[in-house]
Amino acid sequence: MRKKIIAGNWKMNVKPSETAALVKAIAEATKDYTNVDIVCCTPAIDVPAAVEACKGTQVKAGAENAHWEAQGAYTGEISTGMLVDAGAEYVIIGHSERRQYFGETDETVNKRARAVIAAGLTAIVCVGETLEEREAGKLNEVIERQMNVGLKDVTAADCAKLVIAYEPVWAIGTGKTATPDQAQEVHALIRATLAKLVGAETAETVRIQYGGSMKPGNAAELLAKKDIDGGLIGGAALKAADFAGIIAAAAQA
Ligand code: PGA
Repeated sequence: MRKKIIAGNWKMNVKPSETAALVKAIAEATKDYTNVDIVCCTPAIDVPAAVEACKGTQVKAGAENAHWEAQGAYTGEISTGMLVDAGAEYVIIGHSERRQYFGETDETVNKRARAVIAAGLTAIVCVGETLEEREAGKLNEVIERQMNVGLKDVTAADCAKLVIAYEPVWAIGTGKTATPDQAQEVHALIRATLAKLVGAETAETVRIQYGGSMKPGNAAELLAKKDIDGGLIGGAALKAADFAGIIAAAAQA
């Protein structure tokens, strides 16, 4: 049995001074759901405040990106060592917004993911097709490429520190959710592709989150699917009550 994992992706939305209050409200609203892993991935500048607010709760803090080099002349980047030092435990890698706006490629996703795992952090590696790609019949090709290149040289042992998030780009922040059947179909493809990379037994242990307009009202039906092991939540992660509603659904799934 894979433990469900619900992670918030705060994107560029919450100030350092607002962070503790949101984390504490989430922790308070979800304290009974001990069978779910709960993560808040925040802007790097919010991480110290999030880590502090997570203390004594079951909520874990994470970041939204990390560089692959340990240190050096990489203006504007954050290293995995800095995140470890600050107390973060998770890092989102390869979110579609980074692919779309910041030149992230499958190759840089691979470098970042391997660095994150090597640092002892858990990488939440995002994959997902655009509407154009889906409509052109390229769904499988795109997902397989993102998996094969993005997870190149990730070993079976590394998979203990790996979560994959399936986020159809057309469902992110649009209010359009993939139907549970559409999502399950891609989750099964992701698991089968992973099985070819690290073996079927290991692939069965890796959690695959769905992301894209997940909210309290649709979480239960998505999380009921066999290969949907959690959610990566944008908009609904910014309101403690909404985020807690999704976590409640995961606790019962
Ligand atoms: P959304 O974002 O829940 O606002 O659609 C999800 C994500 O981008 O991770």
